[in-house]
Amino acid sequence: MPKVRFLRSNVEVEVQPGAKIRDVALKNGVQLYPGIHRIANCHGFAQCGSCRVLLQNGTEKNVSRKTLLERLRLAMSYFAIGHGDELRLACQARVTGDVDVLERPPANFSGTYAPEVEAARRRLREGKY
Ligand code: FES
Repeated sequence: MPKVRFLRSNVEVEVQPGAKIRDVALKNGVQLYPGIHRIANCHGFAQCGSCRVLLQNGTEKNVSRKTLLERLRLAMSYFAIGHGDELRLACQARVTGDVDVLERPPANFSGTYAPEVEAARRRLREGKY
């Protein structure tokens, strides 16, 4: 069974494949939400963006693909700057393998987030131009 490790909370749990990271966190007492969002959040409907997490150590490949709602929500989030692939909404990401989760991540302004630029860079790296 896949393991989910919450880095800030130092909690590691085994889960069924397909479990949502948000559900795993709430079941195990891990605080996903910063500040007022502990009360004021969308309860898992990909609307508020406050359940965002950063998947670490290359484990972002061990979750489901981003849903359309998640992509739209993250496109409006300054937290996505510099974190195109590893920033996920915990309420949308389903576990398919071991994942390292940084809950309540800090903002990163060191890069730019433009999906089309990232896609172009990826195609260049893969020699598809
Ligand atoms: S709980 Fe609101 S976006 Fe995930």
